[in-house]
Amino acid sequence: MTRISKLLAAMTIEEKIGQLSMQALDLAVTGPIVTGNVEERIRSARIGSLLNIWGAEQVQRLQRIAVEETRLKIPLLIGLDVLHGHKMIFPIPLAETAAFDPPLWEASARAAAKEAADDGVTMTFAPMIDIARDPRWGRIAESPGEDPFVGAAYARAKVRGFQGGNGPGGLADAQSLAATAKHFCAYGAVQAGCDYAPADVSERLLHEVYLPPFAAAMAEGCAAVMPAFNNVAGIPMTAHMGLLRGWLRQTQGFNGVIVSDYNAIAELIRHGVAADLAEAAALSLHAGIDVDMMSGAYSEGLRLALDRGLVTLEMIDEAVRRVLTLKECLGLFDDPFARGGAAVASREGRKEHRALARELARRSVVVLANDGILPLWPDLRRLALIGPLADAPAEMLGPWVLAGDRAQATTIREGLAAALPHTEIICEPGCSIAGDDRAGIAAACDASHSADLVILCLGEAAHMSGEAASRADPGLPGVQAELASALFDLGKPAVVLLTSGRPLMIADIAARARALVATWFLGAEAGHAIADVLTGAFNPSGRLPVTWPRHLGQVPIFFSTRPSGRPADPLDRYTSKYLDMPVEPLFYFGHGLSYCRFCLVSLSTGETSVRAGGELLVAVEVSNEGPAAGETTVFLFLRALKARIARPVLELKGFAKIALAAHEKGRVSFKLTGKDFCYLAGDLEPLFEPGEFLLFAGQSADPKGFLSVKMRAVAG
Ligand code: GLC
Repeated sequence: MTRISKLLAAMTIEEKIGQLSMQALDLAVTGPIVTGNVEERIRSARIGSLLNIWGAEQVQRLQRIAVEETRLKIPLLIGLDVLHGHKMIFPIPLAETAAFDPPLWEASARAAAKEAADDGVTMTFAPMIDIARDPRWGRIAESPGEDPFVGAAYARAKVRGFQGGNGPGGLADAQSLAATAKHFCAYGAVQAGCDYAPADVSERLLHEVYLPPFAAAMAEGCAAVMPAFNNVAGIPMTAHMGLLRGWLRQTQGFNGVIVSDYNAIAELIRHGVAADLAEAAALSLHAGIDVDMMSGAYSEGLRLALDRGLVTLEMIDEAVRRVLTLKECLGLFDDPFARGGAAVASREGRKEHRALARELARRSVVVLANDGILPLWPDLRRLALIGPLADAPAEMLGPWVLAGDRAQATTIREGLAAALPHTEIICEPGCSIAGDDRAGIAAACDASHSADLVILCLGEAAHMSGEAASRADPGLPGVQAELASALFDLGKPAVVLLTSGRPLMIADIAARARALVATWFLGAEAGHAIADVLTGAFNPSGRLPVTWPRHLGQVPIFFSTRPSGRPADPLDRYTSKYLDMPVEPLFYFGHGLSYCRFCLVSLSTGETSVRAGGELLVAVEVSNEGPAAGETTVFLFLRALKARIARPVLELKGFAKIALAAHEKGRVSFKLTGKDFCYLAGDLEPLFEPGEFLLFAGQSADPKGFLSVKMRAVAG
């Protein structure tokens, strides 16, 4: 009999329900309720896992209660939202996706895992892999952007990083964390971009867009999944039998732990599908949810549900077995104190991690527009650094910074001062991030009169994106637009930096700025990374992971839209377009400028046709026209010219970076298979259908820059 079977056989129903209950402490507040009395509940085996606690000493004190003072000595799971760093904070996920660099994505997760494990954490509620196409939704900041192919690559890299991949001990390694793929699913499709709102998506869109990143996480061996708060077509995800017990567990074969989101099981009552906690508990357990995070539905309602015959003891045992198995895979039964023991590693790692934070941050910066004013010239005499984000350390880290020290971040002012020691830098906020106080605008203008250049540091506060941070009007908050206008009116050359967790609606600003740079929330090394890019110490290579709308009225706008029978034609009234605005976005997915000019010279394929079980080698020749060395990202898109179901106008099938010296040529290669040409037929099963295709290579989804080649998918 295995250790787990022996434990199960020995456990009382109360001890079993205790293993299915997760309780928050108050080192961080990430939900509506925090309750005390945790030690007593551990001692009485009423909880089996904790969240929002870190610090080796405190964690080990609570773990000792669990493994020494309870009857069965079952260790605790310690969960935390380690999303983009633990102590050393990296760029937010949306920003780091702009690096289009899976090894770097994995490295930042590995670094975060080591630091969190040193603090006694055993499980992270990450990666967040919700495809997001609505900038009103604050959690777009936590996402890998708009495209499922990118989302799947991001999911794989993050799961490997957190869980130690095929490293020596994998999940059992004392520096690994159990990863939690979240939020399952279609959370990015909430109505009107309003957090926690319903999401009503078609089965097809679910399978084409929202599920693929989770399939990738499952294939990578992700240990846990967290259902989303929203309902999908009327069924709350926390009770969704079809998607949880069906697609996730049966179709994907996932037998890991499903942990509810914070208080989500009890919220089934507000969703209108449960009358009380017992019914809510029963619905979730039936759907396959093992752990109740903070709602009390399992601890207060599951026994009642059992007595009412709404659930069976076998169902409870199945959930407990999965929880105990995860604890065993993490090595917690063998040594519950392994994590938190090697504090030295994190101190040593901290220096490397700061270098990694800078490397990842500068690769996440996206130069959206530049008339040549960037890079800054080395003998720049006097710089006016204006705006509420110019010297704001607490804002540079962005949302979801639990153990991170907000004072640790280098500000834009500090970064530029270090990079331009001979430049006089005058720094004026001009106004606050939000609010309507205009009193500082005059001082900002006065400070700029004698400057050779103005750099405007505009954007959002860290709390304006992330959870519960939807914005109906995602432009520049407060009176920042007025500040910018006043500075533009001075007639000085002006560069605009945008600190934000989302694409901001800034078409007016873009029209007047000499250069426009998306700096997102870049983490601890924000200031140095931004200075590296602005001075040319690092040639920018970031590319947009989301389409940047010209106006909110275009949303949702994304490159893989389906064709219209009347595609937009400015010369033909009766076509799909607006009367008052172009249909094109302000900036396309994949857009981003470098300080050198890259050209795609040729696109070639070994064959002109591909079979269902065949492969296709694709080569793209790239040249760097100079003047500097740099890196570009090449995207490979597919367009099916005909299918039984109308397919998107562009499907992303690959992305790859290439570094080239000035005037050097190089080649990027892709290997496609017949699978890449498949689509989901009427039954939502993959179908390889003979027909004609176009392959496009581009440095973004802007069709003006495409190279193309015609292909045929052939039977047999
Ligand atoms: C929050 C978030 C989720 C997070 C959890 C624990 O409500 O929705 O992403 O992991 O609670 O903090």
